[in-house]
Amino acid sequence: MSAIRRFRIAAIPADGVGQEVVAAGRQVLDALAAASAGALAFAFDWQEFEWGCAYYGRTGRMMAEDGLEVLKDFDAIYFGAVGWPGVPDYVSLWGLRLAICQNFDQWANVRPVRFLPGVRSPLRKAGDTELDWVVVRENSEGEYAGMGGRNFAGRGPGGEIAVQSALFTEVGCERIMRFAFDLARTRRRRKVSSVTKSNAQQYGMVLWDEVFTRVARDYPDVETESVLVDAMSAKFVLRPEDLSVVVASNLHADILSDLGSALAGSLGLAASANLNPERRFPSMFEPVHGSAPDIAGQGVANPVGAVGSAALMLGHLGLPEQAARLHAAIEATTAAGILTRDLGGTASTDDVTKALIDALHA
Ligand SMILES: NC(=O)c1ccc[n+]([C@@H]2O[C@H](COP(=O)([O-])OP(=O)(O)OC[C@H]3O[C@@H](n4cnc5c(N)ncnc54)[C@H](O)[C@@H]3O)[C@@H](O)[C@H]2O)c1
Repeated sequence: MSAIRRFRIAAIPADGVGQEVVAAGRQVLDALAAASAGALAFAFDWQEFEWGCAYYGRTGRMMAEDGLEVLKDFDAIYFGAVGWPGVPDYVSLWGLRLAICQNFDQWANVRPVRFLPGVRSPLRKAGDTELDWVVVRENSEGEYAGMGGRNFAGRGPGGEIAVQSALFTEVGCERIMRFAFDLARTRRRRKVSSVTKSNAQQYGMVLWDEVFTRVARDYPDVETESVLVDAMSAKFVLRPEDLSVVVASNLHADILSDLGSALAGSLGLAASANLNPERRFPSMFEPVHGSAPDIAGQGVANPVGAVGSAALMLGHLGLPEQAARLHAAIEATTAAGILTRDLGGTASTDDVTKALIDALHA
C-alpha cells in the first residue's frame, strides 16, 4: 500500500470576508482530498492562525513575534484578506501580508484573469471572444519597497512633506521578466506585454524597459510589446484579446489586476499566488480581494477567488490534475447559475461552496 501524501498548510483567514472564504476553500480542498485514493491519495494537515486586526487589538501585533519562524516549515500558506476599520491599512498590510511576502521572498505574484461561463462581463466582446490572460506582478520591490520618510523638520504646521520612493534593481526586474517569459512559453499564445511608465519615470522604469529588452533576446520564440500603464489600462478594456502574459511592477500590476478581475465579472472571482519560485520558503495563495467590511459577516462573500487560489496552490504542490478538477468544478458551478450577489445571483457563500463540492463528485 502506498503512503498517502500529506501537505502541511498554514491557514491565515485574517479579517472580514477573509474568514468566510478561507473556511469555504478549506471545505472544498478537504472534499477533494477525501475523494483521492490509491497511489494518488493526498490529505491536508491544516494549522489555522488567528492573526489579523482582532489579534492586533489584543496584542499590538498583527502576527506573533515568532510568526515567520513558525510559518517557514509549512508546505504552503492559504491566506484570506487583511484590514479592518480601526486599524490603519498600512499597519495591517505591512504587519501581516507584506511581512510574509517580503520576508519569504515571494517575488512573483501570479494573477490570472479568467472569464467564467454563466458570469456576465461588463465587456461586450467577452460574449464571443476568447479572453484569458495572466498578470505577473513584481512582488518584492518597486513602489512597495517601503522606502521613504515624512515629517521633515522645520516646515511648520501644514508644511509637512513626504517622500515615497520606488526601488528597481536589475536583479529584481530580470527575475520577474524571466518568470513571465517562461510562463508565456507554457501558454497557447506566446506573448509577454511589459507595462511601463518610462516616459515620466526616467530612472526606475527606464531600467525596467532595458532589462525587458535584454531578457527578450533570450526568448526569440515569444512575441513582446512594451506599453505605457495608461495605455495598458485602455487596452485591458478595448483589446484584451491581444493579451497573454502581462508583466508589471508591484503597483501597476496591483491596479491592473483589479481592473482585470472587474472585467471578468467581480473582484470576488480573482485568484492569486505569491510565489517563492526557488522554494526556499513557503509560497502563499490568496484571493485578490480585500476584507470587504461592507459585506463581511453576512454569508454572501463570493468564495470563487479563494477556491481559484486553492487551485493555484494545488498546482504548486505538484497536483495539476487536482487543480484542473477544481477549475472544472468552478466552471460547472457558475455555468449552472449558482452565483453570489456580486455576480447578480442570490446564492450564499455556503450555497456556492456546497455546489462546488457537489460538482467535484459529479
Ligand atoms: N490582500 C489583502 O489582504 C487586501 C487586498 C485589498 C484590500 N485589502 C484591505 O481590505 C479592506 C477593504 O478594502 P477595499 O474595500 O478597498 O477592497 P475589497 O476588495 O475588500 O472590496 C472592494 C469591493 O469588492 C467587494 N468584494 C470584495 N471581495 C468580495 C467577495 N469575495 N465577494 C463579493 N464581493 C467582494 C466588496 O464588497 C467591495 O464592494 C481594507 O482594509 C484594505 O486595506 C486587503
